[in-house]
Amino acid sequence: MLTIEVNKDGFVLINHFTGTKYNTHDIWQYIYFLAGLSVFALVIIYIISRFIRYYSPSCFRTNFDLLLGASIFILSLILLKALAVFIIHDTSSLQEQRAIYLYYIPLFPCAMSAILYGVLMNVVSGYIFIIVLCLCQTILYGGDFVIFLIGITSVTAGIMSSHNARRRTHLIRSGLLIGFIQAIAIASYSIANGFQWQIIVSHAGTGIINGSLGAFFTAGILPIFEYLFKVPTDIRLLELSDLNHPLLKKLVMDAPGTYHHSLIVGNLAESAAEVVGAKPLLARVGAYFHDIGKLKKPEYFSENEWRGKSRHDDLIPSMSSLIIISHVKDGVDLARKYRLNKNIVDIIEQHHGTGLVYFFYKRAEQAQQESDIKITEEEYRYPGPAPQSKEAAIILLADAVEAASRALENPTPSRIRNLVSNIINNRFLDSQLDDCQLTITDLAKIKDCFTYILTGIFHTRPKYPKDETAANNEQQNGHQNKQQTETIQNTPQTD
Ligand SMILES: [Fe+2]
Ligand SMILES: [Fe+2]
Repeated sequence: MLTIEVNKDGFVLINHFTGTKYNTHDIWQYIYFLAGLSVFALVIIYIISRFIRYYSPSCFRTNFDLLLGASIFILSLILLKALAVFIIHDTSSLQEQRAIYLYYIPLFPCAMSAILYGVLMNVVSGYIFIIVLCLCQTILYGGDFVIFLIGITSVTAGIMSSHNARRRTHLIRSGLLIGFIQAIAIASYSIANGFQWQIIVSHAGTGIINGSLGAFFTAGILPIFEYLFKVPTDIRLLELSDLNHPLLKKLVMDAPGTYHHSLIVGNLAESAAEVVGAKPLLARVGAYFHDIGKLKKPEYFSENEWRGKSRHDDLIPSMSSLIIISHVKDGVDLARKYRLNKNIVDIIEQHHGTGLVYFFYKRAEQAQQESDIKITEEEYRYPGPAPQSKEAAIILLADAVEAASRALENPTPSRIRNLVSNIINNRFLDSQLDDCQLTITDLAKIKDCFTYILTGIFHTRPKYPKDETAANNEQQNGHQNKQQTETIQNTPQTD
């Protein structure tokens, strides 16, 4: 228990657990130490990050990553120093046995940050931070190299296991894994040092406590980091992928065609993101929300038109194009209103890039020939920008492919392949894929992936073999001209 007393020299922090008092001078010393160590460590991380970014551009992609990593780092270092002061450096007034029992408790902030880095950051970028944090931890333990080994072993396992965490319960799994590895490492080192079994058991116990505390604290502060740094963690995305989100519920009621289209785009985008190493869950959730702007005027979009007259029949092409283009801005406004993650807002904004509203542009061109009105291509283009991430580009392609495949007559595998190939080539030549970091190899993989899935969707059902007796009877009766009809009649009712 800690209390603060104020006297004429300033304030005094009292640790009632050990009876130690820390005056203002001591506290300033700790702050200077922390500030110096933080700056030193962050300079090291910055230099390494520049080096890694040069050879692997997906790591430390923006300075925002550095800021996020540095925030977790400084928080952990403050906790580490506080625990070190109260437990490691305070043994003079602490009962000797108690000091030995609690010796490994200050390893807990590293366990916590391993889980945070795994969930919030690119795994390589996070690993650089955690290695340097383990080194700082070793400095605080007076350069005990064993502490570095124990730390690095457990956090490596922790960062790996938490990186794919999709539910908040997975954080507990990661924490327990860190605790278990720490317990084994600490206990085996204690055995090697010939400690009494009570101490060995308590040391192993502190390992488990560290892992559990790490998971517990991570679960508490993760939403703060998600909010402050707008990080689309898999945990948050999975919550958003719940089809009960108010916007998706509105979409299913007011624009069922768009809802169905978004689900298929989601499946296409998720599979393509998986094969090119992008974020599959972000691609799926981004696809679910990409057309929410159509909620404003759902009846003006072909997928929501019920057979009959189109709303555009009575409009001039420029007005139709304006309505179609406005669904992007309306989508962005709605996404911001419902506080969707920034990455999803970006996907909505970029899902048509600066593409041309081809149908109405061609219609306007025809109208132009009959009148004097001059049209420009720019008037019929979306405002953009072109996709800036792999996920946004994949959704742009999946969206176009899904919409075009609906109009495909007799969709054989080769026709589907040609369609997908043409759409990807057109978007590439129209400079829509210039800023998204997808390579030509990635585009080939995406083409195969889309073709495979669409072929599955449009597959033709094989004809069921006819019942033998029925076939014999039919042959006897000479009704071979009815074969097709009977094949359908013999098809089982349940599918
Ligand atoms: Fe759209
Ligand atoms: Fe769409």
